[in-house]
Amino acid sequence: MKFFADTADVAEIRELNELGLLDGVTTNPSLVKKSGRDIIEVIKEICSITDGPVSGEVLATEAGAMIAEGRKLAEIAPNIAVKVPLTLDGLKACKVLSGEGKMVNVTLCFSANQALLAAKAGATFISPFVGRLDDINTDGMELIEEIRQIYDNYDFATEILVASVRTVNHVKAAALIGADVMTAPASVIKAMASHPLTDKGLAAFLKDAEAAGLKIV
Ligand code: E4P
Repeated sequence: MKFFADTADVAEIRELNELGLLDGVTTNPSLVKKSGRDIIEVIKEICSITDGPVSGEVLATEAGAMIAEGRKLAEIAPNIAVKVPLTLDGLKACKVLSGEGKMVNVTLCFSANQALLAAKAGATFISPFVGRLDDINTDGMELIEEIRQIYDNYDFATEILVASVRTVNHVKAAALIGADVMTAPASVIKAMASHPLTDKGLAAFLKDAEAAGLKIV
């Protein structure tokens, strides 16, 4: 499973990269707003940190304008994935941009039928938002199961990029289903390493090592 960082904060992205836990990055207009930076400038800096796919989202809503913005975003670096919303215009833009060999991430997916359309439009990634479905008392992971089954039924190459991940439990559930990628805030990715028994066990080992005067280097 690939891990993408769901942030436009370059310090967080650098930290995950140094931990060896970064396969790519997803941004959206809200995350760019939070960074307080210019959209092109911040995406360019992110692309200098990782060779993995970096999603930059279009701001237009009409297909022609989305295509123009997508082409401009794709000029930033070869690892840009143009992010378009799951609307009819977005699907049209996806078809054109993917036909030009650009990676396309179709975002704001909330149903299996939407995911089927994105695959037919040649999307590189489909981004189903599990957290936002959970927020309205719908099981986001059921959607991931449905998309996995549909894509496997027809051998679609579109990768399932689980988005709107809020907890470590989302990550485990998505991995058990066989999602290709998950994107999460750095805090969630780092929290995956935490376990109270790890902390307790390590403290005991260190105490015994000190008591015995053990030394390696
Ligand atoms: C990433 O591609 C999505 O834009 C992001 O995961 C949405 O997350 P949120 O629902 O927590 O805003």
